[in-house]
Amino acid sequence: MAKRLWPCAFVLCFLNLALEVKNGFGLQKEGQRTCIVGAGYSGLGTARYMKDYGVNFTLFEATKHVGGTWRFDPHVGTDEDGLPLFTSMYKHLRINTPRLTMEYRGFPFPEDTQSYPTGECFHKYLRSFAKHFELEKYIQFQSFVTLIKWAEDHWNITYTKVDTKETRTAECDFVVVANGEFSTPVWPSFEGQDIFKGKMIHSHDYKDPEDYRNRRVLLVGAGPSGLDLAMHLSNVTAKLVHSHHLNYNQPFFSSSYVKKPDVKMFTSNGVMFQDNTFEDIDDVIFCTGYVFSHPFLDKSVGITATGKFLLPLYQHMVNIRHPSMVFVGIPKKVLNNVLEAQGEYAAALAAGKFELPPQETMLKSWLRHVRTLHSRGMKILDVNVIGNEMDNYFANLTQEAGIYRRPPVLSDIRDFNARYRLEDLLNYRDYDYRIIDDYKYERWYNPRKGNPCPLEI
Ligand SMILES: Cc1cc2nc3c(=O)[nH]c(=O)nc-3n(C[C@H](O)[C@H](O)[C@H](O)COP(=O)(O)OP(=O)(O)OC[C@H]3O[C@@H](n4cnc5c(N)ncnc54)[C@H](O)[C@@H]3O)c2cc1C
Ligand SMILES: *[C@@H]1O[C@H](CO)[C@@H](O)[C@H](O)[C@H]1NC(C)=O
Ligand SMILES: *[C@@H]1O[C@H](CO)[C@@H](O)[C@H](O)[C@H]1NC(C)=O
Ligand SMILES: *[C@@H]1O[C@H](CO)[C@@H](O)[C@H](O)[C@H]1NC(C)=O
Ligand SMILES: *[C@@H]1O[C@H](CO)[C@@H](O)[C@H](O)[C@H]1NC(C)=O
Repeated sequence: MAKRLWPCAFVLCFLNLALEVKNGFGLQKEGQRTCIVGAGYSGLGTARYMKDYGVNFTLFEATKHVGGTWRFDPHVGTDEDGLPLFTSMYKHLRINTPRLTMEYRGFPFPEDTQSYPTGECFHKYLRSFAKHFELEKYIQFQSFVTLIKWAEDHWNITYTKVDTKETRTAECDFVVVANGEFSTPVWPSFEGQDIFKGKMIHSHDYKDPEDYRNRRVLLVGAGPSGLDLAMHLSNVTAKLVHSHHLNYNQPFFSSSYVKKPDVKMFTSNGVMFQDNTFEDIDDVIFCTGYVFSHPFLDKSVGITATGKFLLPLYQHMVNIRHPSMVFVGIPKKVLNNVLEAQGEYAAALAAGKFELPPQETMLKSWLRHVRTLHSRGMKILDVNVIGNEMDNYFANLTQEAGIYRRPPVLSDIRDFNARYRLEDLLNYRDYDYRIIDDYKYERWYNPRKGNPCPLEI
């Protein structure tokens, strides 16, 4: 599939862009409006800078709440209003990168907060941010965006009012799409999956270890959720069978923890692995990750959006076909600070603080990015990956838009954290971090009983 998409991606861009007319956004004019979709970390961060820069904007949020995926919701599948659940939060989660890699600029947690607070605490932080910057008055809650369409010289955003079921259209001159990337689960498919009699869920629907007390559970996958659930469940379940192929320093979880290779097939009451061993199982949790979902992008938007990637985006953000649309939150394998920087870039662009290059130049820049990927043996599937290029990316955004330069030390912290997490999974969150200067940080052991959250709203 990836191979076939190469020529398709190129043809698409040239067809679209060869015919393109200029539609640079420029300075905010009287009567113009910017619209943001989503009030999670990305949308709130963007809103703060929009407000700072005096941009006239409205934020459309499907739910009644701010905080996106950080809000724990006890419902499964659909929420209290019948909306699909956009949050994937579960009990006892603690963040997996130090908070200083996630804090909004100029708005730190109280100093005595541990470096890896709970998800609940992070949600409190987001609510406190929205309150501090008085963002709620710009947010139109219960507005579920169903269609974004290019209407000759502006954007039509169609949304459903969740309470009245009424459909409305907002006309916007600039659009920021920040609808999150971790709410549409990837379900694997194995032989026998349909005859298995127990309960099968994706980690998107997982809430609480108590649901698995004394059960025999199969966990599939060892990404962030898979490793977290191994920790949270191993001393609760009767047996925890963990199927994955991650190479890491596996800690002692519990005497009932069993590591297994990849799944081969299911039977009505158990599972067979690639090494032909078999385990009896009651429940299955697939920790198999998420895909993008942008069902509201009309064809007229000019973006190729699949679950695996979005293209073509200049600076991993700007819709080259219609540069008055940007995405915040698409880059993969980066810290949340990147999303924060993207919010600042988006606001600077909407406010006319800088101008984008001509479309041909943006397209050339994107093609150069694609060629670089290719020469590194990566595929179009990796087109949204920034990963090790994170510090260059910060530099590039600053150079173009004049925004605050996030310091290089963040990359060192990220790299160290990513390595050390796999070295000492059970204890890596018991350290505190402090940035000394742009290049240096310090880290010391400082466990806290009960994970307190010394944050007032
Ligand atoms: C379980 C879990 C744990 C994580 N842990 C960490 C961590 O420890 N550290 C870290 O750096 N990152 C972590 N992440 C990544 C996390 O996604 C980011 O931290 C960040 O929250 C992304 O914010 P966002 O605003 O882009 O998306 P979201 O938080 O998903 O927010 C998107 C918002 O858009 C709204 N929305 C969606 N569709 C529509 C629509 N059609 N119309 C209107 N509104 C819509 C949603 O309701 C939601 O409020 C974690 C993710 C998950 C799922
Ligand atoms: C802000 O946007 C609204 C909605 O489009 C518009 O009616 C209003 O005139 C705009 N305000 C300013 C100051 O541009
Ligand atoms: C955009 O929305 C306005 C207001 O609802 C409507 O009049 C117009 O026809 C729409 N344009 C397109 C191209 O859908
Ligand atoms: C489970 O309990 C044992 C015994 O108390 C302990 O050694 C182990 O670290 C616990 N496992 C986890 C993942 O907390
Ligand atoms: C930063 O810009 C340079 C020069 O245009 C480019 O080669 C590089 O790919 C960019 N890096 C990122 C991560 O955007």
